[in-house]
Amino acid sequence: GAAVEVDISDLPPGGSKTVEWRGKPVWIMRRTPEMLAALPALDGQLADPKSLREQQPAYAQNAWRSVKPDIFVAVGICTHLGCSPSAVPAGSANPSVGADWPGGFFCPCHGSTFDAAGRVFRNKPAPSNLEIPPHRFASETRLLIG
Ligand code: FES
Repeated sequence: GAAVEVDISDLPPGGSKTVEWRGKPVWIMRRTPEMLAALPALDGQLADPKSLREQQPAYAQNAWRSVKPDIFVAVGICTHLGCSPSAVPAGSANPSVGADWPGGFFCPCHGSTFDAAGRVFRNKPAPSNLEIPPHRFASETRLLIG
C-alpha cells in the first residue's frame, strides 16, 4: 500500500501529532534533547532495553528506536491488550507514574508504562515495546510511514 506522508515542519520540540496508517494510530513526536539524554540511563528499569524482541525495523533497533534521533514514530497501541496509551511528560503530577518519571507514555487500562522510546518501563503487563512502523524521510520535513 501507499505510504502515509506527514509534514513535520510544524512539529515543535516536545510536540506530537497522530496520523492513521493501515487503520492504526501512529504517533510522531519530536523529542527534546532532554528526553533523548534521559534514555540511556533507563536500561536497568526496562523489560527489553535493546529492543531485541524486534518490535521495530532493523534500522530502528538503536538507542532511540528511530531513523532520526529526535523524531519518534510509533504505533500508538498498547502491546498488552490494545488500549491507547497517552503521552505523559517528565515531571508530571500524574500519581500513576511516580515522582521520578522520566517522560513517556502511560496506558490507563492496566497501568503499563513506556519510556520516550516506547520501551516497557517498570510497570507491565505490556509484554513488548511499542511497535515502530516502517518509516523514512523524503526530505528534512517530509516523513513517510509505511
Ligand atoms: Fe495497556 Fe493493558 S492494554 S496495560
